[in-house]
Amino acid sequence: MSNSIPSYDAIIVGSGVGGLATAIYLAEQAKANNTNIAILVLSKKLLDTTNSNWAQGGIASVASNEDSFESHVQDTLDAGANQNDPYIVQKVIHAAPMAMQDLIDWGMELDKNQDGSFDLVKEGGHRFSRIWHKADATGQSLQRVLMQKIKQFPAITCIENTTVIQVVQTAAKSFYLETIDREASYHFDANQNDSFLKQYHCKQLVLATGGLGMVYEKTTNQSVATGDGLFLAGQLNASFKDLSYIQFHPTGLFEANSATTFLITEALRGAGAVLRNEKGIDFMQQYDPRGALAPRDIVSRAIMNEIKKASIEYIFLDATTLPSKTIHDHFPNIVAACKHKLGIDISKDWIPVVPVEHYSCGGIEVDEIGAVKGVVNLYAIGELANTGLHGANRLASNSLLEGLVFAKWAAGALYLSLNSAAPNEIMNQVEAYLFAPVRCRKLDRKLLQTCMTNYAGIEKTTLGLTTGLDMLQKALDQAVYLESWMITDWENQVLYEVGIRIFKDALEQHSNKGVYFNLDYV
Ligand code: SIN
Repeated sequence: MSNSIPSYDAIIVGSGVGGLATAIYLAEQAKANNTNIAILVLSKKLLDTTNSNWAQGGIASVASNEDSFESHVQDTLDAGANQNDPYIVQKVIHAAPMAMQDLIDWGMELDKNQDGSFDLVKEGGHRFSRIWHKADATGQSLQRVLMQKIKQFPAITCIENTTVIQVVQTAAKSFYLETIDREASYHFDANQNDSFLKQYHCKQLVLATGGLGMVYEKTTNQSVATGDGLFLAGQLNASFKDLSYIQFHPTGLFEANSATTFLITEALRGAGAVLRNEKGIDFMQQYDPRGALAPRDIVSRAIMNEIKKASIEYIFLDATTLPSKTIHDHFPNIVAACKHKLGIDISKDWIPVVPVEHYSCGGIEVDEIGAVKGVVNLYAIGELANTGLHGANRLASNSLLEGLVFAKWAAGALYLSLNSAAPNEIMNQVEAYLFAPVRCRKLDRKLLQTCMTNYAGIEKTTLGLTTGLDMLQKALDQAVYLESWMITDWENQVLYEVGIRIFKDALEQHSNKGVYFNLDYV
């Protein structure tokens, strides 16, 4: 029996903005040049089970006369505590209008004013209104247009419910991926059922798996966001930078027992909503002259301070001063979610909110087109990459933008290198690779999440970091191997590895900047 497996020019792991936009830009170039190409997009769950799909705020791009590239650059550097790469900041921000034009050409729905101009709003850290959006569900509008667009390209195949569990790079610098069906309950015994395991081969690999929010107790991320791309990049010996720069969003909806947290967009504060403590005091001016629209790290720390001072679990976001029409027209999803989840009417009631994990600002080290440093033919696009754009704290609505522009740059490079490959490298089937069977340990996800929240949260101490690191390392060392495992067990291993990397990185930071805040350095 032949043991051949499908081979693609490029495999893209992840179907959020970074993944789908890379596939589209690559397929577009191939089509324009009449080049045959085979692209595979692997999605862990459904194509739209992505953090991008849940993004509320929007996409930052300078468009008004009062605004300028310089001020968007300056706002990005200020938010990032000047830890950003200024060259990358310039490059991305100047490329933003082109990315918006692409989206408009592809048919993305965006809110407009009555005069037909695009409705641009403000979020924390932005001095001017430059956030392009579709009400409070911009991510859905973006995901929808990308999913429609990929259908135009026969070169793109998408496979859902598929998790990549291991990857190797060959001497010829191509890749073998081993994947498992999401529904698999896998048994490594004499009767092992291999139908859940599948292999793929590719010449170029793009990791676009998004965030790592599930390492924390509370996150705005979707449950699939377990840092898989970081784990796979680790298998390929990629290097990582500033993994401890974890951004907490100031306003996650407070719900006592919920695995993931519903986000209350910063655009609500942009429209005038204020933060109040348990006494009803609008406290943000005491912390920063920009009030509730100060950068996220400052607002999150201020909220935690109020929470600690009063021994409470949450504070409030008050949107009741906004005209009811503004609330219902611009924030329909938030109105509906607050009604559905808590039974409150946000035009009359204050919204209970708490800071929650939102975004990983650090990640896999990539160059100025998204190519992973030190690993040939590997790219990382989106949240899992450290491009240098965000520095120590991402400016609101810069992340969808980053995903789009790096997707375009990476696709350009991918196309060129595929096109220059010798004809005998073009292949549709190759022999399977002999992967060692994956083994998983019995690990407690709750323990990890509590440990990360307590010791690698908004405020850290050096003692807390060493305690947390020891705790995770010990739990990992003492865990027994399972005879059979499920995807969640594999994910737990990944999450522990990611958590350990975050602690190690945090211990290597020696001063406070942006989201990195260690009480010992105050
Ligand atoms: C938000 O809508 O507040 C989130 C936007 C972002 O994270 O950039």
